[in-house]
Amino acid sequence: MLNNKNILLGITGGIAAYKAAILVRELKKRGCNVKVVMTHKAKEFITPLTLATLSQNPILVEFFNPENGEWNSHVKLGLWADAYIIAPATANSLGKMANGIADNLLITAYLSARCPVFVAPTMDLDMYTHPTTARNIKQLLADGVNIIEPDAGFLASGLEGKGRMAEPTAIVEYIDSYFKTLSSNRPLSGKRAVVTAGGTIEPIDSVRFISNYSSGKMGYAIAQVLKDKGAEVTIVRAGVDARLKGSIDGVTEVEAMSAQSMHQVMHKESPKSDIIVMAAAVADYTVETTATRKLKKEDFNGNLSIQLTQTKDIAAMIGDNKTSNQTVVGFALETDNELENAKRKIKAKNLDIIVLNSLKDAGAGFGFDTNKVTIINSNMESIQLSLKSKKDVAHDIVDAIIGGISSVKLD
Ligand code: CTP
Repeated sequence: MLNNKNILLGITGGIAAYKAAILVRELKKRGCNVKVVMTHKAKEFITPLTLATLSQNPILVEFFNPENGEWNSHVKLGLWADAYIIAPATANSLGKMANGIADNLLITAYLSARCPVFVAPTMDLDMYTHPTTARNIKQLLADGVNIIEPDAGFLASGLEGKGRMAEPTAIVEYIDSYFKTLSSNRPLSGKRAVVTAGGTIEPIDSVRFISNYSSGKMGYAIAQVLKDKGAEVTIVRAGVDARLKGSIDGVTEVEAMSAQSMHQVMHKESPKSDIIVMAAAVADYTVETTATRKLKKEDFNGNLSIQLTQTKDIAAMIGDNKTSNQTVVGFALETDNELENAKRKIKAKNLDIIVLNSLKDAGAGFGFDTNKVTIINSNMESIQLSLKSKKDVAHDIVDAIIGGISSVKLD
């Protein structure tokens, strides 16, 4: 799990700093790239030469290289690291971290780190149990820092109790299992997904349009689950409930209001994506000629006809160009011969999965927060799910994308 991970190790000035050499060696053995940042005090416990030799990287202490003025960028360090381990972390450094006192490179790197941060405290037992330390640790936990608890035992002061830094092998194991848990919770990490959502809007004139009742809720719920499972997600949205716009942190949104504009966007987005979910209700027909001004009723002698032309089928275009490592999911909204029509569509559009929505069930379909669907795969196997929240349906659909429909749990 740790192979090729970039680990930033911060060493503060406690007697346990001597164990940092073993920690660096253990991390290197697991295939990590290690950079070390230390405080001035830490240098009194272990030499930069030892750590530079073991880590195969220069040791960073100062904000600037005093020889040539070159900036040791804490920002770059923070971005480079996949994990920042501060071991040993003294009571003083814990206090600075908890309160944002950024008076050395190690703490500024902490404030710049976007990666998970791990802290292995070390101090005398009375310092560890002091309310100040307890308060700072509580604050760090609330800030999302992982605390690797100290061991109990013989301390440098001659006292015995809790305060010895966890052993280097235990620290490495802790971080390894952190990344293992992360990757099992995020099976789609490294994958790109694009989800269409909402109902397309086909303009008649400058103020009127033809659309449908789709709210975009199902598409957004799927985008959320894909993102939570680690995928990098883009939502291509047509007309959606205004509350949905920008509602998912870390997801890119592209607006494509009409069927034609959605076709153009998806033509660009789909080749870059591993997972493509077509949850939008796309118009099958659009207005042949959109009037550039508002149409007036007296222009039509009480009888207005609008000429419609067929739109391009986006899902079929994606299905035609599908590569073996792409999964394409479509939706089918049917009122008659539901299963039969959905099966016809999965074949005709070369989809991997189709999600059949039925409007017959109360609480299912447009605008509701609940949905009742049947998920069908390209072998024409299907699984019918009960009425549940769109969030739960989204989980089922994403389970089917990851592990096939047999992995969808029936309730
Ligand atoms: N779809 C599409 N492009 C279109 C029409 C539909 O990509 N121009 C997609 C929808 O996003 C959905 C799937 O095709 O994922 C099925 O849409 P649906 O409207 O149920 O089927 P149609 O093929 O349009 O057939 P019909 O409307 O006749 O049932």
